[in-house]
Amino acid sequence: MKVVKIAEGIHMLTVNMENILFEGMWEIGNGVTLNSYLVKGEKIALIDGVIGWDGVPETLYDRLKEIEVDPKDIDYIIINHMEPDHSGWIESFKKLNADFQIICSDKAARLVTSFYGNEDKIRIVKEGDELDLGQGKKLTFHPTPNVHWPDTMLTYEVQTKTLFSCDMYGAFGRMGDHVFDDQLTESEVDFFEMEGIRYYSNVMTTFSPAIRKAIEKTEELDVNIIAPGHGPVYRTNPRKIIDDYARYSRYAQGAGKREITILWGSMYGMTKKAVDFAKEVLEREGIRYNLLEMPIESDSEMIAKIFKAAGIIIAAPTYEYKLFPPIASALEEVGRKRITGKAAFRFGSYGWSGGAEKELKEIHDRNNMKWDFIESVEFEGAPKEGDLKKIEAGILELIKRMEDRVVE
Ligand code: FEO
Repeated sequence: MKVVKIAEGIHMLTVNMENILFEGMWEIGNGVTLNSYLVKGEKIALIDGVIGWDGVPETLYDRLKEIEVDPKDIDYIIINHMEPDHSGWIESFKKLNADFQIICSDKAARLVTSFYGNEDKIRIVKEGDELDLGQGKKLTFHPTPNVHWPDTMLTYEVQTKTLFSCDMYGAFGRMGDHVFDDQLTESEVDFFEMEGIRYYSNVMTTFSPAIRKAIEKTEELDVNIIAPGHGPVYRTNPRKIIDDYARYSRYAQGAGKREITILWGSMYGMTKKAVDFAKEVLEREGIRYNLLEMPIESDSEMIAKIFKAAGIIIAAPTYEYKLFPPIASALEEVGRKRITGKAAFRFGSYGWSGGAEKELKEIHDRNNMKWDFIESVEFEGAPKEGDLKKIEAGILELIKRMEDRVVE
Protein backbone atom coordinates (compact mmCIF):
# COMPACT_ATOMS: atom_id res chain seq x y z
CA MET A 1 0.00 0.00 0.00
CA LYS A 2 1.18 3.50 -0.68
CA VAL A 3 0.05 7.07 -0.12
CA VAL A 4 0.07 9.55 -3.00
CA LYS A 5 -0.90 13.21 -2.86
CA ILE A 6 -3.36 13.90 -5.66
CA ALA A 7 -4.24 17.54 -4.86
CA GLU A 8 -3.81 20.01 -1.99
CA GLY A 9 -5.27 18.33 1.09
CA ILE A 10 -6.21 15.14 -0.77
CA HIS A 11 -4.29 11.86 -0.66
CA MET A 12 -4.89 8.53 -2.31
CA LEU A 13 -4.17 5.32 -0.40
CA THR A 14 -3.81 2.54 -2.91
CA VAL A 15 -3.08 -1.15 -2.66
CA ASN A 16 -2.60 -3.83 -5.32
CA MET A 17 -4.63 -6.96 -4.71
CA GLU A 18 -3.29 -10.13 -6.35
CA ASN A 19 -4.36 -13.74 -6.47
CA ILE A 20 -7.99 -13.12 -5.75
CA LEU A 21 -11.19 -13.97 -7.55
CA PHE A 22 -12.92 -10.62 -7.88
CA GLU A 23 -16.51 -10.89 -6.65
CA GLY A 24 -15.57 -14.46 -5.78
CA MET A 25 -15.62 -15.50 -9.46
CA TRP A 26 -13.50 -13.43 -11.87
CA GLU A 27 -9.91 -14.52 -12.42
CA ILE A 28 -7.87 -11.34 -12.64
CA GLY A 29 -4.38 -12.37 -13.59
CA ASN A 30 -3.16 -8.76 -13.63
CA GLY A 31 -4.55 -7.93 -10.20
CA VAL A 32 -6.60 -4.89 -9.23
CA THR A 33 -6.01 -1.78 -7.17
CA LEU A 34 -8.24 -0.66 -4.34
CA ASN A 35 -8.08 3.10 -3.87
CA SER A 36 -9.19 5.08 -0.84
CA TYR A 37 -9.02 8.86 -0.59
CA LEU A 38 -8.43 11.05 2.40
CA VAL A 39 -9.67 14.65 2.28
CA LYS A 40 -8.35 16.94 4.97
CA GLY A 41 -9.87 20.25 6.02
CA GLU A 42 -10.45 21.09 9.67
CA LYS A 43 -12.34 17.81 9.63
CA ILE A 44 -11.09 14.67 7.90
CA ALA A 45 -13.07 12.43 5.58
CA LEU A 46 -12.06 9.03 4.27
CA ILE A 47 -13.76 8.17 1.00
CA ASP A 48 -14.15 4.45 0.22
CA GLY A 49 -12.22 2.26 2.60
CA VAL A 50 -10.52 -0.88 1.39
CA ILE A 51 -11.40 -4.49 1.90
CA GLY A 52 -10.27 -6.15 5.09
CA TRP A 53 -8.25 -8.97 3.58
CA ASP A 54 -4.83 -10.04 4.75
CA GLY A 55 -4.18 -7.30 7.28
CA VAL A 56 -4.81 -4.53 4.77
CA PRO A 57 -6.49 -2.20 7.29
CA GLU A 58 -3.47 -2.42 9.57
CA THR A 59 -1.20 -1.48 6.67
CA LEU A 60 -3.51 1.40 5.91
CA TYR A 61 -3.33 2.69 9.48
CA ASP A 62 0.47 2.61 9.29
CA ARG A 63 0.48 4.55 6.05
CA LEU A 64 -1.79 7.22 7.50
CA LYS A 65 1.07 8.14 9.82
CA GLU A 66 3.04 9.28 6.74
CA ILE A 67 0.54 12.07 6.24
CA GLU A 68 0.21 12.75 9.97
CA VAL A 69 -3.27 11.37 10.31
CA ASP A 70 -4.27 9.18 13.22
CA PRO A 71 -7.25 6.89 12.47
CA LYS A 72 -8.84 8.40 15.58
CA ASP A 73 -8.80 11.80 13.82
CA ILE A 74 -11.04 10.66 10.97
CA ASP A 75 -14.44 12.29 11.35
CA TYR A 76 -16.33 10.93 8.36
CA ILE A 77 -16.32 7.77 6.29
CA ILE A 78 -17.94 8.40 2.93
CA ILE A 79 -19.37 5.23 1.44
CA ASN A 80 -19.93 5.82 -2.25
CA HIS A 81 -20.86 2.16 -2.65
CA MET A 82 -21.32 -0.47 -0.02
CA GLU A 83 -19.73 -3.44 -1.81
CA PRO A 84 -17.17 -4.73 0.68
CA ASP A 85 -14.17 -4.05 -1.59
CA HIS A 86 -14.85 -0.42 -0.57
CA SER A 87 -16.48 -0.76 2.83
CA GLY A 88 -14.84 -3.84 4.35
CA TRP A 89 -12.62 -1.56 6.40
CA ILE A 90 -15.43 -0.46 8.71
CA GLU A 91 -15.35 -3.53 10.95
CA SER A 92 -11.71 -3.01 11.78
CA PHE A 93 -11.89 0.80 11.87
CA LYS A 94 -14.62 1.01 14.44
CA LYS A 95 -12.44 -0.83 16.95
CA LEU A 96 -10.01 2.11 16.77
CA ASN A 97 -12.37 5.01 16.41
CA ALA A 98 -15.72 5.06 18.16
CA ASP A 99 -16.53 8.62 17.14
CA PHE A 100 -17.09 8.88 13.40
CA GLN A 101 -20.01 9.38 11.09
CA ILE A 102 -20.84 7.33 8.00
CA ILE A 103 -22.10 9.36 5.04
CA CYS A 104 -23.99 7.41 2.39
CA SER A 105 -27.12 7.21 0.24
CA ASP A 106 -30.42 5.93 1.65
CA LYS A 107 -29.99 2.59 -0.13
CA ALA A 108 -26.47 2.18 1.20
CA ALA A 109 -27.70 2.91 4.73
CA ARG A 110 -29.78 -0.26 4.75
CA LEU A 111 -26.87 -2.30 3.43
CA VAL A 112 -24.40 -0.79 5.90
CA THR A 113 -26.72 -1.71 8.72
CA SER A 114 -27.25 -5.24 7.50
CA PHE A 115 -23.54 -5.84 6.88
CA TYR A 116 -21.95 -3.99 9.81
CA GLY A 117 -24.59 -2.56 12.19
CA ASN A 118 -23.67 1.08 12.98
CA GLU A 119 -27.23 2.43 12.50
CA ASP A 120 -26.50 5.18 15.02
CA LYS A 121 -23.56 6.54 13.00
CA ILE A 122 -25.22 6.91 9.61
CA ARG A 123 -26.10 10.19 7.93
CA ILE A 124 -28.06 9.79 4.71
CA VAL A 125 -27.35 12.24 1.88
CA LYS A 126 -29.23 12.98 -1.30
CA GLU A 127 -28.51 14.78 -4.58
CA GLY A 128 -26.58 18.00 -4.04
CA ASP A 129 -26.18 17.71 -0.25
CA GLU A 130 -22.97 19.27 1.07
CA LEU A 131 -20.47 18.47 3.78
CA ASP A 132 -18.17 21.34 4.73
CA LEU A 133 -14.86 20.04 6.08
CA GLY A 134 -13.43 23.51 6.65
CA GLN A 135 -10.31 25.14 5.17
CA GLY A 136 -12.10 25.42 1.84
CA LYS A 137 -12.74 21.71 1.47
CA LYS A 138 -16.37 20.99 0.70
CA LEU A 139 -17.85 17.70 -0.48
CA THR A 140 -21.08 17.33 -2.45
CA PHE A 141 -22.95 14.07 -3.05
CA HIS A 142 -24.58 12.78 -6.21
CA PRO A 143 -26.44 9.45 -6.16
CA THR A 144 -25.96 7.34 -9.30
CA PRO A 145 -28.13 4.29 -8.60
CA ASN A 146 -27.07 1.03 -10.21
CA VAL A 147 -23.59 2.11 -11.09
CA HIS A 148 -22.87 -1.28 -9.95
CA TRP A 149 -25.23 -1.51 -6.95
CA PRO A 150 -28.41 0.51 -6.29
CA ASP A 151 -26.72 2.38 -3.44
CA THR A 152 -23.94 4.05 -5.44
CA MET A 153 -23.16 7.75 -5.43
CA LEU A 154 -20.41 10.04 -6.64
CA THR A 155 -18.65 12.42 -4.24
CA TYR A 156 -17.26 15.72 -5.53
CA GLU A 157 -14.78 18.03 -3.82
CA VAL A 158 -15.60 21.58 -4.79
CA GLN A 159 -12.28 23.39 -4.20
CA THR A 160 -10.10 21.03 -6.25
CA LYS A 161 -12.94 19.86 -8.58
CA THR A 162 -12.12 16.26 -7.80
CA LEU A 163 -14.68 13.56 -8.53
CA PHE A 164 -14.42 10.46 -6.34
CA SER A 165 -16.19 8.03 -8.62
CA CYS A 166 -15.77 4.65 -6.91
CA ASP A 167 -16.50 1.86 -9.44
CA MET A 168 -17.36 4.38 -12.16
CA TYR A 169 -14.32 5.04 -14.39
CA GLY A 170 -12.45 2.15 -12.74
CA ALA A 171 -10.22 -0.54 -14.23
CA PHE A 172 -8.66 -3.83 -13.23
CA GLY A 173 -4.88 -4.06 -13.31
CA ARG A 174 -2.17 -3.52 -10.74
CA MET A 175 -0.46 -0.12 -10.63
CA GLY A 176 3.27 0.38 -10.36
CA ASP A 177 4.87 3.75 -9.67
CA HIS A 178 2.69 5.50 -12.24
CA VAL A 179 -0.72 6.31 -10.78
CA PHE A 180 -1.68 9.44 -12.77
CA ASP A 181 -2.83 9.47 -16.40
CA ASP A 182 0.01 11.82 -17.40
CA GLN A 183 2.61 9.40 -15.99
CA LEU A 184 1.44 6.33 -17.92
CA THR A 185 3.68 5.07 -20.71
CA GLU A 186 2.14 4.07 -24.02
CA SER A 187 2.17 0.41 -23.01
CA GLU A 188 0.58 1.27 -19.64
CA VAL A 189 -2.16 3.18 -21.47
CA ASP A 190 -2.77 0.05 -23.58
CA PHE A 191 -2.69 -2.08 -20.44
CA PHE A 192 -5.37 0.01 -18.72
CA GLU A 193 -7.47 0.08 -21.91
CA MET A 194 -7.44 -3.74 -21.84
CA GLU A 195 -7.96 -3.96 -18.08
CA GLY A 196 -10.62 -1.23 -18.22
CA ILE A 197 -12.54 -3.22 -20.79
CA ARG A 198 -12.18 -6.36 -18.71
CA TYR A 199 -13.38 -4.55 -15.60
CA TYR A 200 -16.31 -2.91 -17.38
CA SER A 201 -17.37 -6.11 -19.15
CA ASN A 202 -17.00 -8.37 -16.11
CA VAL A 203 -18.47 -6.09 -13.46
CA MET A 204 -20.29 -3.11 -14.95
CA THR A 205 -21.79 -3.94 -18.33
CA THR A 206 -25.13 -5.17 -16.98
CA PHE A 207 -25.64 -1.65 -15.66
CA SER A 208 -24.79 0.25 -18.86
CA PRO A 209 -28.02 2.37 -18.86
CA ALA A 210 -27.14 3.62 -15.35
CA ILE A 211 -23.56 4.25 -16.45
CA ARG A 212 -24.78 6.50 -19.26
CA LYS A 213 -26.75 8.52 -16.67
CA ALA A 214 -23.64 8.75 -14.48
CA ILE A 215 -21.70 10.09 -17.46
CA GLU A 216 -24.38 12.80 -17.85
CA LYS A 217 -24.04 13.62 -14.17
CA THR A 218 -20.26 13.88 -14.55
CA GLU A 219 -20.76 16.31 -17.44
CA GLU A 220 -22.92 18.53 -15.19
CA LEU A 221 -20.08 18.86 -12.71
CA ASP A 222 -16.96 20.87 -13.43
CA VAL A 223 -14.40 18.07 -13.09
CA ASN A 224 -10.62 18.55 -13.05
CA ILE A 225 -9.65 15.22 -11.51
CA ILE A 226 -11.32 11.81 -11.65
CA ALA A 227 -10.28 9.63 -8.72
CA PRO A 228 -11.82 6.16 -9.04
CA GLY A 229 -11.91 3.27 -6.58
CA HIS A 230 -9.90 1.04 -8.95
CA GLY A 231 -7.13 2.04 -11.34
CA PRO A 232 -5.32 5.27 -12.28
CA VAL A 233 -6.26 8.82 -11.34
CA TYR A 234 -7.06 11.14 -14.26
CA ARG A 235 -5.75 14.61 -13.42
CA THR A 236 -4.60 15.86 -16.84
CA ASN A 237 -7.20 14.46 -19.19
CA PRO A 238 -10.31 13.25 -17.34
CA ARG A 239 -12.14 13.50 -20.66
CA LYS A 240 -10.32 10.34 -21.83
CA ILE A 241 -11.86 8.04 -19.24
CA ILE A 242 -15.30 9.68 -19.61
CA ASP A 243 -15.15 9.03 -23.37
CA ASP A 244 -13.79 5.50 -22.79
CA TYR A 245 -16.74 4.68 -20.55
CA ALA A 246 -19.18 6.13 -23.10
CA ARG A 247 -17.53 3.88 -25.72
CA TYR A 248 -17.67 0.82 -23.47
CA SER A 249 -21.37 1.40 -22.87
CA ARG A 250 -21.82 1.19 -26.66
CA TYR A 251 -19.86 -2.07 -26.78
CA ALA A 252 -22.53 -3.48 -24.46
CA GLN A 253 -25.10 -2.74 -27.16
CA GLY A 254 -23.36 -4.30 -30.16
CA ALA A 255 -20.62 -1.85 -31.12
CA GLY A 256 -17.00 -2.95 -30.83
CA LYS A 257 -13.47 -2.68 -32.08
CA ARG A 258 -12.83 -3.67 -35.67
CA GLU A 259 -12.06 -7.24 -34.74
CA ILE A 260 -13.72 -10.63 -34.61
CA THR A 261 -13.73 -12.88 -31.60
CA ILE A 262 -13.90 -16.61 -32.31
CA LEU A 263 -15.59 -18.42 -29.44
CA TRP A 264 -14.84 -22.05 -30.15
CA GLY A 265 -14.72 -25.57 -28.80
CA SER A 266 -14.13 -28.91 -30.45
CA MET A 267 -14.40 -32.48 -29.17
CA TYR A 268 -12.30 -34.37 -31.72
CA GLY A 269 -10.96 -31.66 -34.02
CA MET A 270 -13.65 -31.58 -36.74
CA THR A 271 -14.91 -28.10 -35.80
CA LYS A 272 -11.30 -27.07 -35.19
CA LYS A 273 -10.51 -27.76 -38.88
CA ALA A 274 -13.12 -25.15 -39.78
CA VAL A 275 -11.73 -22.75 -37.16
CA ASP A 276 -8.27 -23.06 -38.74
CA PHE A 277 -9.83 -22.29 -42.11
CA ALA A 278 -11.69 -19.27 -40.64
CA LYS A 279 -8.39 -17.91 -39.28
CA GLU A 280 -6.89 -18.12 -42.79
CA VAL A 281 -9.84 -16.20 -44.24
CA LEU A 282 -9.59 -13.48 -41.58
CA GLU A 283 -5.83 -13.16 -42.07
CA ARG A 284 -6.31 -12.89 -45.83
CA GLU A 285 -8.94 -10.16 -45.28
CA GLY A 286 -6.71 -8.30 -42.81
CA ILE A 287 -9.17 -8.62 -39.91
CA ARG A 288 -7.78 -8.79 -36.38
CA TYR A 289 -9.18 -11.72 -34.41
CA ASN A 290 -9.21 -13.12 -30.89
CA LEU A 291 -9.42 -16.82 -30.10
CA LEU A 292 -11.36 -18.12 -27.13
CA GLU A 293 -11.04 -21.87 -26.81
CA MET A 294 -13.61 -23.11 -24.34
CA PRO A 295 -13.53 -24.42 -21.70
CA ILE A 296 -9.83 -23.49 -21.44
CA GLU A 297 -10.31 -19.70 -21.30
CA SER A 298 -11.45 -18.04 -18.09
CA ASP A 299 -14.90 -16.46 -18.00
CA SER A 300 -13.27 -13.10 -17.36
CA GLU A 301 -11.28 -13.25 -20.59
CA MET A 302 -14.19 -14.73 -22.52
CA ILE A 303 -16.62 -11.95 -21.55
CA ALA A 304 -14.05 -9.22 -22.24
CA LYS A 305 -13.14 -10.47 -25.71
CA ILE A 306 -16.74 -10.93 -26.80
CA PHE A 307 -17.68 -7.54 -25.33
CA LYS A 308 -14.99 -5.60 -27.19
CA ALA A 309 -15.39 -7.13 -30.67
CA ALA A 310 -17.88 -5.91 -33.26
CA GLY A 311 -18.14 -9.38 -34.81
CA ILE A 312 -18.43 -12.82 -33.21
CA ILE A 313 -17.83 -16.28 -34.68
CA ILE A 314 -19.27 -19.14 -32.67
CA ALA A 315 -17.62 -22.41 -33.69
CA ALA A 316 -19.16 -25.28 -31.79
CA PRO A 317 -20.37 -28.80 -32.51
CA THR A 318 -23.48 -30.59 -31.39
CA TYR A 319 -23.02 -32.56 -28.18
CA GLU A 320 -25.72 -35.00 -27.06
CA TYR A 321 -28.43 -33.27 -29.16
CA LYS A 322 -27.44 -29.81 -27.90
CA LEU A 323 -24.83 -27.09 -28.22
CA PHE A 324 -21.32 -28.07 -27.01
CA PRO A 325 -21.78 -27.36 -23.28
CA PRO A 326 -18.75 -25.06 -22.65
CA ILE A 327 -19.98 -22.80 -25.46
CA ALA A 328 -23.58 -22.97 -24.23
CA SER A 329 -22.56 -21.90 -20.74
CA ALA A 330 -20.30 -19.13 -22.10
CA LEU A 331 -23.18 -17.73 -24.15
CA GLU A 332 -25.54 -17.94 -21.17
CA GLU A 333 -23.07 -15.82 -19.22
CA VAL A 334 -22.76 -13.33 -22.09
CA GLY A 335 -26.57 -13.15 -22.21
CA ARG A 336 -26.81 -12.60 -18.46
CA LYS A 337 -24.37 -9.72 -18.85
CA ARG A 338 -26.78 -8.20 -21.39
CA ILE A 339 -24.19 -7.93 -24.15
CA THR A 340 -26.58 -7.37 -27.02
CA GLY A 341 -26.63 -6.55 -30.72
CA LYS A 342 -23.39 -8.18 -31.91
CA ALA A 343 -23.02 -9.33 -35.53
CA ALA A 344 -22.54 -13.12 -35.33
CA PHE A 345 -22.01 -16.28 -37.36
CA ARG A 346 -21.95 -19.90 -36.23
CA PHE A 347 -20.59 -23.06 -37.77
CA GLY A 348 -19.98 -26.49 -36.31
CA SER A 349 -19.84 -30.22 -36.79
CA TYR A 350 -22.37 -32.90 -35.87
CA GLY A 351 -22.15 -36.69 -35.81
CA TRP A 352 -25.17 -38.84 -35.21
CA SER A 353 -27.52 -35.94 -34.61
CA GLY A 354 -27.84 -32.16 -34.87
CA GLY A 355 -29.33 -29.99 -32.12
CA ALA A 356 -26.72 -27.30 -31.41
CA GLU A 357 -28.57 -24.75 -33.49
CA LYS A 358 -31.82 -25.23 -31.60
CA GLU A 359 -30.17 -24.65 -28.24
CA LEU A 360 -28.23 -21.65 -29.54
CA LYS A 361 -31.53 -20.05 -30.52
CA GLU A 362 -33.04 -20.89 -27.12
CA ILE A 363 -30.15 -19.26 -25.27
CA HIS A 364 -30.25 -16.22 -27.55
CA ASP A 365 -34.01 -15.71 -27.24
CA ARG A 366 -34.16 -16.44 -23.52
CA ASN A 367 -31.59 -13.73 -22.86
CA ASN A 368 -33.08 -11.27 -25.38
CA MET A 369 -29.64 -10.83 -26.91
CA LYS A 370 -30.78 -9.33 -30.24
CA TRP A 371 -27.64 -10.54 -32.04
CA ASP A 372 -27.62 -10.19 -35.82
CA PHE A 373 -26.97 -13.79 -36.95
CA ILE A 374 -25.89 -14.83 -40.40
CA GLU A 375 -27.30 -18.24 -41.40
CA SER A 376 -25.28 -20.97 -39.69
CA VAL A 377 -23.26 -23.67 -41.46
CA GLU A 378 -23.47 -27.17 -40.00
CA PHE A 379 -21.55 -30.11 -41.42
CA GLU A 380 -21.57 -33.85 -40.77
CA GLY A 381 -18.19 -35.05 -39.47
CA ALA A 382 -15.26 -33.18 -41.01
CA PRO A 383 -15.92 -30.03 -43.07
CA LYS A 384 -15.82 -30.73 -46.85
CA GLU A 385 -14.86 -28.27 -49.54
CA GLY A 386 -18.47 -27.16 -50.04
CA ASP A 387 -18.83 -26.54 -46.29
CA LEU A 388 -15.67 -24.42 -46.24
CA LYS A 389 -16.98 -22.36 -49.16
CA LYS A 390 -20.16 -21.66 -47.20
CA ILE A 391 -18.12 -20.78 -44.12
CA GLU A 392 -16.00 -18.39 -46.16
CA ALA A 393 -19.15 -16.70 -47.50
CA GLY A 394 -20.51 -16.42 -43.94
CA ILE A 395 -17.32 -14.82 -42.71
CA LEU A 396 -17.27 -12.29 -45.57
CA GLU A 397 -20.88 -11.37 -44.76
CA LEU A 398 -19.96 -11.07 -41.07
CA ILE A 399 -17.14 -8.65 -41.92
CA LYS A 400 -19.65 -6.51 -43.86
CA ARG A 401 -22.20 -6.45 -41.03
CA MET A 402 -19.48 -5.72 -38.50
CA GLU A 403 -18.35 -2.51 -40.24
CA ASP A 404 -21.43 -0.48 -39.15
CA ARG A 405 -20.75 -1.39 -35.56
CA VAL A 406 -17.08 -0.40 -35.37
CA VAL A 407 -16.21 2.14 -32.65
CA GLU A 408 -12.51 2.19 -31.80
FE1 FEO B 1 -15.47 -1.93 -6.51
FE2 FEO B 1 -18.84 -2.66 -6.96
O1 FEO B 1 -17.17 -2.63 -6.07
